[in-house]
Amino acid sequence: LNVDLTKSVAKIQPTMYGVFFEDINFAADGGLYAEMVKNRSFEFNAPMMGWLQPNSNTHSMNKDSGLALPMRANQNQKNDDFCRVTINNDKGYQIINEGFRGMGIKKDAKYNLSLKAANHDNAIKKIIIQFIDANKNVLGETAITPTAAEWKNYSVQLTATATEAKAQLKITFEGTGIIDLDMISLFPEETWKNRKNGLRKDIVQLLYDLKPGFIRFPGGCIVEGMTLDNRYQWKKTVGPVEDRETMINRWNVEFKNKQAPDYFQSFGLGFFEYFQLSEDLGAQPLPILSCGIACQYNSGELVPMEELDTYVQDALDLIEFANGAVTTKWGKLRANMGHPKPFNLKFIGVGNEQWGPQYIERYKVFAAAIKAKYPNITIVSGSGPSPDGVMFDYGWEELKQMNAEIIDEHYYKNPDWFKDNAARYDNYDRKGPKVFAGEYAAHPKGVEDGMKENNWLSALSESAFMTGLERNADVVHLTSYAPLMAHVEAYQWAPDMIWFDNLNSYGTANYYVQKLYSNNKGTDVLSITKDGKALTGQNDLYASAAKDANQKELIVKLVNTSAKVQGLSINLSGNGVESKGKMIVLTHEKLDDYNTLAEPTKIIPVEKEYKTAGKKAVVNMPAYSFVVLKLKLK
Ligand code: AHR
Repeated sequence: LNVDLTKSVAKIQPTMYGVFFEDINFAADGGLYAEMVKNRSFEFNAPMMGWLQPNSNTHSMNKDSGLALPMRANQNQKNDDFCRVTINNDKGYQIINEGFRGMGIKKDAKYNLSLKAANHDNAIKKIIIQFIDANKNVLGETAITPTAAEWKNYSVQLTATATEAKAQLKITFEGTGIIDLDMISLFPEETWKNRKNGLRKDIVQLLYDLKPGFIRFPGGCIVEGMTLDNRYQWKKTVGPVEDRETMINRWNVEFKNKQAPDYFQSFGLGFFEYFQLSEDLGAQPLPILSCGIACQYNSGELVPMEELDTYVQDALDLIEFANGAVTTKWGKLRANMGHPKPFNLKFIGVGNEQWGPQYIERYKVFAAAIKAKYPNITIVSGSGPSPDGVMFDYGWEELKQMNAEIIDEHYYKNPDWFKDNAARYDNYDRKGPKVFAGEYAAHPKGVEDGMKENNWLSALSESAFMTGLERNADVVHLTSYAPLMAHVEAYQWAPDMIWFDNLNSYGTANYYVQKLYSNNKGTDVLSITKDGKALTGQNDLYASAAKDANQKELIVKLVNTSAKVQGLSINLSGNGVESKGKMIVLTHEKLDDYNTLAEPTKIIPVEKEYKTAGKKAVVNMPAYSFVVLKLKLK
């Protein structure tokens, strides 16, 4: 192989490797968003979903001792549901929240509970709050004395006395009478940056470690909704948490082998929190908004052109929310929420996976309005499925003629497709729109069991394909694996990059591939060739090279997808490199192996010291391996 150290072939965008976040697979509610109470404000379609009132034989006393019923204060207001509890006697009436497939609690950790209560006639003397396990053992306890007949907020802390992945929250009432309850919320004291209404620290840490260049949010199909009414509306996700309206999640569907009929969006993780997370991670925020077309695989409902204004206004107002002065309407809200400084939004996406004349017609209106008011904002447009129904790269020509800036392509294909497509972007029009490879993942054939689908074969194939993304960094400006994460007991889509239960989380082999690319990105593409050609699968080998001008480093990425060890000799032109460097190897002997919660580090990168002759680097590529060489430039 020959690497030309002297010439930058293309600049690598800081946004090259990012993450795609969607509330699918319990990624937000039940996952990243650290709220532990499911249906905290009794707003699910079945308002008592998630709340148990044990009245089996073993708890027969509960049936006579009281009743909890949902109520709506104001019939016109969607989020005005609450729970009215009537306690008939002193036998200890109780309600139990089951959490999101249970609640994960850790011994000695503290948990902050808050609720709103209206204690009619001050009849209820005490509310006892306990963690319990499946055998009803108490694993932590505290109490609230409700002191007002009117609505009042209460906060208490409880400490877990044991670690338990499937705890529940039991609430018992002392006294006889009526008490109304709302916004019963429980967070670990320790969240990411210890924020209230915060995020799960372990999961954010995994994202932080990726050093993502951008975060695309909030999806995916949930942007579009099954119907327009069910689309994601960012304005309903900002401001006080208790005022945000709960909505059925578009992924509340039967899918693969795990179903989630109890999947709703509380929007506690809303647009402010997404912007804040982007800032925490040093990533560009990349919000995608509805273009006035509901998911074309569901209803495909269209907003009439004469009513598109509301949608376009949402986009303009979002830019004001992110970047506007604190004197503007939406900038003021951002400031009131605790962030007077702008979020420095640079990109906005219009529509997800939409296609056809309906999309183009609507997109044109968005593009004109956004560019007229905010000429410096870059617009990401969507693309639709190609005739095989799977690839989302259709609509390019029309969008190109409209001078679209960046087009979002999606591909979920088998591992061979990824290996065969390492040259996919080599012949893309250099004068046309830039590419956002916004959703991709290798889907191994014949695997229908979640985590297994994140096997080494899928990750290795992606690493081979990504050499092609990197070599073409002049056209490919943003890329993200999808979906980002999944709860092991509540997923609708697999594979996924990060898996978690209520206590722990881990990165898949695919996660480590993404991390190696993102953490070793470089600033400039260099040419790496064999016999004058890019290495795109000849002898099952793939390669890309980059320079990090700031670190004065050469970064070579090499992939061997064959079952045999392959020796490579790399000639380095120019002044060559220092003799000592680093070699990071991600390899595994079995292609169908994968990381799990029990064995989260089965397939992880290993870093070694590496020695070169200065103008030549020799690498023995293990079978099935992805290698990153890092050498200081002379
Ligand atoms: O990533 C899962 C889904 O795949 C996304 O919601 C959608 O954009 C795509 O079809």
